[in-house]
Formats: sequence, structure tokens, C-alpha cells
Amino acid sequence: MIKPSGACGVRMAGTGSAVPEKILTNDDLSRILDTTDEWITQRTGIRCRRVSDQSKEGTFTLSRDALRRALDAASMKASDLDLLIIGTCTAEMRCPSLACRVAGDVGAINAGAFDVTAACSGFVYALNVAETMVRSGRYKNVGVIGADAMSTMVDYQDRSVSILFGDAAGAAILVPDPDLNRGCIYQTLGSDGRDWTGLYIPNRAQEVPEADKDNPIRLGYLRMDGREIFKFAVSKFREVIADALEKTGLTADDISQIVCHQSNARIIENAIEKLKLPREKVLINIDQYGNSSAGSVGLCLDQVWRAGKVPAGKPMILVAFGGGVTWASNVWNV
Ligand code: UT7
Repeated sequence: MIKPSGACGVRMAGTGSAVPEKILTNDDLSRILDTTDEWITQRTGIRCRRVSDQSKEGTFTLSRDALRRALDAASMKASDLDLLIIGTCTAEMRCPSLACRVAGDVGAINAGAFDVTAACSGFVYALNVAETMVRSGRYKNVGVIGADAMSTMVDYQDRSVSILFGDAAGAAILVPDPDLNRGCIYQTLGSDGRDWTGLYIPNRAQEVPEADKDNPIRLGYLRMDGREIFKFAVSKFREVIADALEKTGLTADDISQIVCHQSNARIIENAIEKLKLPREKVLINIDQYGNSSAGSVGLCLDQVWRAGKVPAGKPMILVAFGGGVTWASNVWNV
């Protein structure tokens, strides 16, 4: 197995998550769109998703609540943090960063704070950056959040994209550990920007490529070439998990959990089947929460963490892919 280097190891001191209360079912959607519960369930595995009440909730409140829960789990105060990184593509404001607003609200005053944009890969991107900074010895207590309120970014007049997404946030607190083998033992960050039109949110007509000019989805809302992204995701997902196992010399038996982005249940099932992964080691919660973009891996992590499914001494793999197109993995020795 790979021997990590650096000034120290890294321990995950606590996790947290937050979802809006409001549940939007497939039947709810079938009342406003030309779709059915049967079509959505068969093609995606989704039965319902959580959506924000935009008068009082959104990416900011979900991030803040997830961070507070992670700090509680770690028995730490916000003022103990010296850095906060948020992976998101749905921050309410372009300036300041979402991380600055959340840090200010919870009381992480003087902590460094910045956002990372990598669409659905946002949490794993942020985690990889945060882990590397703690491991270097330059930063001690770092908060990592993945959060998206996709319900604010999908056009509910269009059935092709809106049925897929929901809102969620997940957070983790990273702290230094004297054991160098603790924390991330292997990670990847990847992108292929040539394929950005597979998933994008144009604000101005001049940003829309010629081939997508007739897309009925309104400006300011998410556009997705579902079939192309599906093909990319199926092959990339398998490739990234296989690479993480090969490079670390681990087998699926050595791993406690593969914590993966909830894009579409068929994509996850495909990886389970082709890589012969033990089903109980891959949490699928997309039936309840839909695809929550950067929120999904952090939400899954919090669920497996609190359920005691990622015990110390056994590595877990975190994996995500999304718009950009981007992908990321992290093999974490708990
Ligand atoms: O997390 C970020 C990355 N995103 C993803 O991983 C998403 C990847 N893509 C997908 O999950 C799938 O492509 C979708 C769930 C978005 C779509 O499923 P699909 O099986 O690829 O459907 P499709 O787009 O190929 O459409 C098949 C048919 C079409 O009708 P025709 O042309 O065959 O008559 C669509 O018009 O299904 C129709 N359709 C729908 N019917 C009922 C598309 N959306 C709907 C709908 N309800 N909501």
C-alpha cells in the first residue's frame, strides 16, 4: 500500500449534513411536467428529492447547518477553524464567496475561506485540497463543505433535467494526526474542459454554443446533455474506482465503503456490477435525495460515518464526477 508523506497525518474529527425539509416526489413533478413516477424511477432510481423553500433556505443555510453539525460531532467551536473550503456551483452570490459568508455567520473569524467550483465533484475536490493543506503542516483545523441547492438552478418547465436534482450539504472537519498513515493515501483531481457543454448554466445568450441555441431551457438554468453525460459517467466512474484500487494495492475486500456521487442509480449499479463491488459497501440514497451535485458525497459520508460503517483502520474511497467535465477520487485511511 502507498506510504503517504508530509508533516503529519490527517484525521476526520467529525461530519455533518443538512437537507431542506420539503420533499418533492415524482408524483408532485408529474402534476407540473409531462412525466411519470414510473419513468423517473426506472431511468434514475429517484423517488423523491429535497428542495429549498427559497424564501428562507438555500446553499448558504444548508452549508451553515452542515458545518455546525460537523463541528458539534468533532466537539469543536467554529473559532477553532483556521480554514474553510466549500465546493459549490450554486452560491447565492458571486462575491463574497459562500465560504466567507458561512465562516462569518458561524464565527470562524480570521479563518481563510474560499469556494471551489467543480460541479458535482466539488466536495471531493475541496476535500483533496484541504487534506493536502493539513498534511503539509501549514493549516491545522480545516472545515470542508460540499453544498448545492440545485432546485434554484433547474427549470421546472423542462422535464429532461429538473427531475434529476435536489438540494443537500455535507461537511467534514479535518485535523492533524501524528500517524502519517492516517488521512488520504491516494487522490486524483481530473477534468476535460473540452466537454463543458455537457452540463452548464449559461447566463447570457452569447455563451450558448450554436448547437444548443434551440434548447428550450431558459437562460440562467442548468442545461445537460443527459445521454452524453451518462456515457461519460458510466466509464469514468468505473475507471476512477479501478484506478484507486490499483494504485493503492487495495482490493474491494480491504475497503469499508465506496462513498460515491449520487448521479443516477443506474450509473452506480453499473459500477457495482462491472467491478464486482460488494453491494453493502456502496451506499445508494439517490432514491430519497435525488442528485444533489456537490452535496451528495458529503451527505453520503455523513450517513455512513454516523452509521459506524467506516471504522478506524479500514480505508474508504470517495469518488465523484460532474460538470466541467470533472472527476475526483480520494482513498482515505480513517
Ligand atoms: O451528476 C451530474 C452528472 N449528471 C448525470 O450523471 C446525469 C446523466 N444522465 C442521466 O441520468 C440520464 O441521461 C437522464 C435521467 C437525464 C435521462 O435518461 P435517459 O434514459 O438518458 O433518457 P433520454 O434523454 O435518452 O430520453 C429518452 C426518452 C425521450 O423520448 P423519445 O425521444 O425516446 O421519445 C425523452 O423525450 O425519454 C423522454 N424523456 C422523458 N419522459 C418522461 C426525457 N425526460 C423524461 C421525463 N419523463 N422526465
